[in-house]
Amino acid sequence: MNIVYASDYDELSQIAAQAIQDYVREHPDGVLGLATGDTPIGTYRELARRHQAGEISLRSVTTFNLDEYYGLPADHPQSYRTYMTEHLFRHVDIDGDRIHIPSGVAADADAHCREYDRKIADAGGIGLQLLGLGGNGHIGFNEPDVELKEGSHLVQLSDETIRANSRNFASVDEVPRQAITVGLGAIFRARKIVMLASGKAKAPIAAQLVRSGVTTQIPATLLKLHPDVTVVLDKEAASGLPEA
Ligand code: F6R
Repeated sequence: MNIVYASDYDELSQIAAQAIQDYVREHPDGVLGLATGDTPIGTYRELARRHQAGEISLRSVTTFNLDEYYGLPADHPQSYRTYMTEHLFRHVDIDGDRIHIPSGVAADADAHCREYDRKIADAGGIGLQLLGLGGNGHIGFNEPDVELKEGSHLVQLSDETIRANSRNFASVDEVPRQAITVGLGAIFRARKIVMLASGKAKAPIAAQLVRSGVTTQIPATLLKLHPDVTVVLDKEAASGLPEA
């Protein structure tokens, strides 16, 4: 696990956008695994800026998002589909047919998950996977547990995640209790992984991630077993690591 220290959120966003730009330059029809949440907003803003400056085209790229709240229709203001449209897709030249985000309203969630995994496999797997770091160490919505799942699945969100994500909803009661998330398999088969963590609130988990051994109770530690992972921490997220 390669750790890169960024001076601030802007630099973290530049580093992540550059990693994506480099990957897309080498693989114009490559496959990106994308995350939502607060952390990658600056990365997507920077990608949109670079696209508008003629520096990057996503025309032939295929994308798979990590997750979607279960129970929210695609056009719900807090759906991850809406997030992706607002923060990235409507600002770039991506082909709508190549965008994949789990459905929050699939009647048969298990069948939908199997189909999502098949589509990822048919696309040749993820080339570059962008990840955020949950306050409890989750990646995607693979929450701490005694066992982690290989395939995409319907997951019960932890109280901590529901609380953390309530900042985007009118009240905690409105946060969906379930989500569809890709499993560790698709994340692990990604050729390259870039994980971002920004801000003081991520300092304790970033320190745990760096110091802890591999444990399913901190799913992000499993990334230590992957051959090509870069973790980008801004100054605040790295503040629990005095050696940083
Ligand atoms: C989002 C996702 C989550 C977030 C994580 C951090 O698609 O899969 O794992 O990356 O919860 O969220 P933020 O960036 O809001 O702190």
